[in-house]
Amino acid sequence: MDTKISLANKKKQNDASFQIFLATEKTTLSAKQYTKSEIEFYTAARKEKQSTILISKYPEQHLYLIFDKKEINDINGNNQSELLEEVRRLGAKTLEILKANKIKKAVFTNFTDNTNFIISFAEGLVLANYQFLKYKQKAKEAQTSFEELILNDSKITQAQCDELLAIVSAVNHTRNLVNEPHSTLNSVSISKEFQKLGKAYGFKVEVFNQTKIESLKMNGLLTVNKGSVNPPTFTVMEYKPKGAKNSKPIVLVGKGVVYDTGGYNIKVGTGMETMKCDMAGAAAVAGTMCAIAANKLEVHVIGLVPATDNFINQNAYVAGDIITYSNGKTAEILNTDAEGRLILADALIYAQKFNPELVIDLATLTGAAAAAIGKYGCVAMCNHKANLSLEMLEDLGNLCGDRVATFPFWEDYDELIKSDIAEIKNIGGPYGGAITAGKFLSNFVDYPWIHLDIAGPAFIESNWNYRPKGGTGYGVRLLYNFLK
Ligand code: BES
Ligand code: ZN
Ligand code: ZN
Repeated sequence: MDTKISLANKKKQNDASFQIFLATEKTTLSAKQYTKSEIEFYTAARKEKQSTILISKYPEQHLYLIFDKKEINDINGNNQSELLEEVRRLGAKTLEILKANKIKKAVFTNFTDNTNFIISFAEGLVLANYQFLKYKQKAKEAQTSFEELILNDSKITQAQCDELLAIVSAVNHTRNLVNEPHSTLNSVSISKEFQKLGKAYGFKVEVFNQTKIESLKMNGLLTVNKGSVNPPTFTVMEYKPKGAKNSKPIVLVGKGVVYDTGGYNIKVGTGMETMKCDMAGAAAVAGTMCAIAANKLEVHVIGLVPATDNFINQNAYVAGDIITYSNGKTAEILNTDAEGRLILADALIYAQKFNPELVIDLATLTGAAAAAIGKYGCVAMCNHKANLSLEMLEDLGNLCGDRVATFPFWEDYDELIKSDIAEIKNIGGPYGGAITAGKFLSNFVDYPWIHLDIAGPAFIESNWNYRPKGGTGYGVRLLYNFLK
């Protein structure tokens, strides 16, 4: 169940006996509200530099969070990004305290002057309060989970709460899709999930079947799919509100490899066990469509998802095969595990049809991207026409916590993917693996384009601040803020 966020009123405040205060070093307790011994307790705790202080005032409990950063009240300061992220983390940490005390409802009051902290605190707390319980027989964890955060601040509006909740539930849809195993989420069922989301949130969803995909000559998708018992799908989502501010749409493309075994270049040893996450780009695109539709953003957006698994049978593609794309480009396959770029190429060609203002693709594309910067952010690159958009995306990434690191994209890298017998090859050797993957894709775009390699942040193997282990929903908040 999604956590509720609401605004405080008298009744709610009386019902909830747990109060959280975001305080600073300067905060002191008033003698009107607290007894002498409570004040002494607080002062002693502060002397010991404790940053979380729980005062028991039966039947109430008051939790003081001391946020002792410099420039805390500087709303427009340079370090705003770090502060907001810190507050989100504080939200997640507070959730742990609430769960340990079996608290279901709490009131939050901000004693700092930075009003941005209220939403960020709620965001961190609510994002952390996600669990994937579908396959737990007894949803015990659910019983201990926190239910409602009540914001006690007249500067916050109900609309802000609703916006945040819609974003968080979109992030959670993305997490659910990523966490769903391949046995229940294949190329066909993922397209059905997109249709369900489209119905629920009010965006159009059209799914192309194998015959249609063949007629469109999406040969990358068809080639990767050759070793599968499930047909490929290609999903087109569209959100086009009446008041859309853009005349040319923004197109989002998501890698939808529902499971990546590596194909005949099979993943050996470790590395395959998390490969249900190889559709995280697709899930982030769908989640973003939900977030923008729920919040009625005035922007025309199209989402494209090529979906297949990368499996092996007698028909499967092999190293040495050559794909001829519908735009005439030929690609030599030298490794069947570099399958993502092969199917994304078809989607990028198809995106041209919309005469897009900008195309952004999201893909768990390379281990090299994850190796370079870890789970801490995605690796981004773009063509010249999208330089400014990527700068903006990077700034927004810092502000919202879905961080973006821009990599070089010099022309020189093109030589690494030249093929002897076709135009390009699908691997580029040991160096710059995330970039050569991006270079492969750049052969299929002639519009402003940004590539986000999310292999690092999309899926994590242990809890990390406000991101529970598993699918993180990376990209949804980033794209939402960008589109907004
Ligand atoms: N899906 C993987 C990339 C990946 C790795 C995603 C780790 C998430 C976590 C991708 O299809 C892949 O296997 N890439 C190869 C490319 C190589 C063969 C050029 C890789 O990174 O090893
Ligand atoms: Zn692969
Ligand atoms: Zn893959």
